[in-house]
Amino acid sequence: MKKIAVFTSGGDAPGMNAHIRAVVRSALSKGIEVTGIIGGYSGMIEGNFMNLGRKETANIIALGGTILKTSRSKEFLQKGGRAAAADKLRAAGIEGIVACGGDGTFHGAHALWDEQKIPIVGTPGTIDNDLYGTDFTIGYDTAINTATQAIDKIRDTADSHGRVFIVEVMGRHAGFIAMDVGVSTGAEFIAVPETVTNLDELYQRILAQGKQQRTIVIVGEGDEVGGANTFAQILKDQYEINAKVTILGHIQRGGSPTVRDRVLASRLGVAAVDALLEGKTDVMAGEINSEISFTELEKTWTKKKPIQDYLINLADVLT
Ligand code: F6P
Repeated sequence: MKKIAVFTSGGDAPGMNAHIRAVVRSALSKGIEVTGIIGGYSGMIEGNFMNLGRKETANIIALGGTILKTSRSKEFLQKGGRAAAADKLRAAGIEGIVACGGDGTFHGAHALWDEQKIPIVGTPGTIDNDLYGTDFTIGYDTAINTATQAIDKIRDTADSHGRVFIVEVMGRHAGFIAMDVGVSTGAEFIAVPETVTNLDELYQRILAQGKQQRTIVIVGEGDEVGGANTFAQILKDQYEINAKVTILGHIQRGGSPTVRDRVLASRLGVAAVDALLEGKTDVMAGEINSEISFTELEKTWTKKKPIQDYLINLADVLT
């Protein structure tokens, strides 16, 4: 291979820039040119490309967001969109691709390989940590630290007033963020889509806290009951409890990546380039038990990554 491309896609995640930097530097060290695709799959279809060298990737390791921008492309969901993208890639002499994103990105990457046979290696870039085949995704560690810092502040005011706070954290279909953040902030109740949420139990926890005491409830946005507003409404209607609601939202996606995210992003960047050179394709490069591991792209979304039992038990004992 003489030239590869890298792009970021789906929801941005802190560490994506460190990842781009690692892909570029590792490829350059092997005499391979790198093209950056700007704007995810939309940019691929438009042929919105830029050359990435050492200069373009200097001083980006500590930056949140993604210098290559990102998108969720409807056009790429169609075969015609993917064919148009492949034409642009071939015309630019691109022989392999590193695709950093979540399950939507990997659906697209898998289809591109399937139909167009352009080698592609995925890397897990999402704050949700919901991809099978890696212990952690790029951006997750920063997101849980950001959420923890925010909830520590909420706890101060909740404690002073003895209030019930329902705090909603991200995680479209998975409760990893909620579970880790619930434990790290000493929350009184954690609701995640992976376990059945018992509202009577929540009510009992609030009662047990007593009138003067705060109650912090962490709700993963994908919980089967609903988001924080739904929880607050149910508490009001069914249990006559007034709760304050905070939805942390996109603050969890921003900010300078933590050390763990920078190191993971860098390691997986190097691993993805090596994988392309070894002829691997249609796989995600992840890290399992500190070892680099490759998983077929399709398995990353068809197999469900469970929340580890120890964490569920820990939350049970400590909340
Ligand atoms: O997948 C990452 C994520 O931040 C989810 O946690 C969240 O549900 C979703 O993206 C939000 O997407 P958008 O920024 O497009 O609203």
